[in-house]
Amino acid sequence: MKTTLSVIKADIGSLAGHHVVHPDTIAAANKILAEAKRNNVISDYYITYVGDDLQLIMTHSRGELDTKVHETAWNAFKEAAKVAKDLGLYAAGQDLLSDSFSGNLRGMGPGIAEMEFDERPAEPVVIFMADKTEPGAYNLPLYKIFADPFNTAGLVIDPTMHEGYKFEVLDVYEGESIILNTPEESYDLLALIGTPSRYIVRRVYRKADNLQASVVSVERLNLIAGKYVGKDDPVMVVRAQHGLPALGEILEAFTVPYLVPGWMRGSHYGPLMPVSQKDARATRFDGPPRLVGLGFNIKNGKLVGPTDLFDDPAFDEVRRTAVMIADYIRKHGPFMPHRLEPQEMEYTTLPLVIEKLKNRFKKETDMYKTKPSVYSHESSHE
Ligand code: F6R
Ligand code: MG
Ligand code: MG
Repeated sequence: MKTTLSVIKADIGSLAGHHVVHPDTIAAANKILAEAKRNNVISDYYITYVGDDLQLIMTHSRGELDTKVHETAWNAFKEAAKVAKDLGLYAAGQDLLSDSFSGNLRGMGPGIAEMEFDERPAEPVVIFMADKTEPGAYNLPLYKIFADPFNTAGLVIDPTMHEGYKFEVLDVYEGESIILNTPEESYDLLALIGTPSRYIVRRVYRKADNLQASVVSVERLNLIAGKYVGKDDPVMVVRAQHGLPALGEILEAFTVPYLVPGWMRGSHYGPLMPVSQKDARATRFDGPPRLVGLGFNIKNGKLVGPTDLFDDPAFDEVRRTAVMIADYIRKHGPFMPHRLEPQEMEYTTLPLVIEKLKNRFKKETDMYKTKPSVYSHESSHE
């Protein structure tokens, strides 16, 4: 029997700013999903939130991009957005870019991570959900989980994992994807995914048998809408154990609060802080960017769980480090590298400022007697 796990999320409005989902909107979404479960559209579901993002975790047997499942999610978001509007919540309906549903949710605003697989006798999965960052934020941990033996002991020790993994990388600017094999193409892979705003790891497969181990939501709202309409707070599914990374090897990748783009106004680098569900609220400077990890088992299409994986003193020091990094990088104020490079910023005031000042720039006639090599890609060191 094939099971599909669909994690679909959207920011449909939140309480007290871009801060936290309101329980009444969850209740509205719950009505729709409960009905879909009664009507056998989905087998099971769990609804949660991270910051201002409403998260629908659903299982079914209809495969990826299924019209009925996506329409269910759309209706749940629509109903939740109605409640958000009635309550006067902030940015009600923000991520719902279209008025009507057609076919599936791609390009309509919500983030989607779906995976169809043959259920193993025991099927542990981890669902990661982040707020105030973007899909490329999972590049670094995915590399560590599936390609770095200093993180994942099983790459060396477990015979099923020893051959390595395949990474499917999407170039979101060109709309192209490529598969790269690890360990042999690790350096090529890193050369790409070290630019996470453009090259995003979308799927990972076990090389030995092509078993899919992971999927990431890769919608980039700013590219979809042609203008920025919100950060694409991403979700990721990782299957665990028995020839795949152990649960603890997966979580080990989040022991460094590495810097991700997003945070305040989607325009700043900040540390990704793993938190428990109870702390999944954006506060300081609208963040810091937060990550929740929920562990489930899936049995005959039913979700067993969850367990709140970062609700654990073993991650206290990571959070403390994240706060220290936040203190440090905040001191840069409006300066890069805290502020993002202009083309990645959510707010596009820079062109307006340049336009306003353009007549006040005076040509420096003497400046380029010799063309500086820094602009010509030629080395000045002969
Ligand atoms: C970032 C985010 C927030 C908002 C900020 C300003 O993704 O959601 O940091 O950008 O709170 O929001 P507006 O412009 O809606 O007042
Ligand atoms: Mg938001
Ligand atoms: Mg958000």
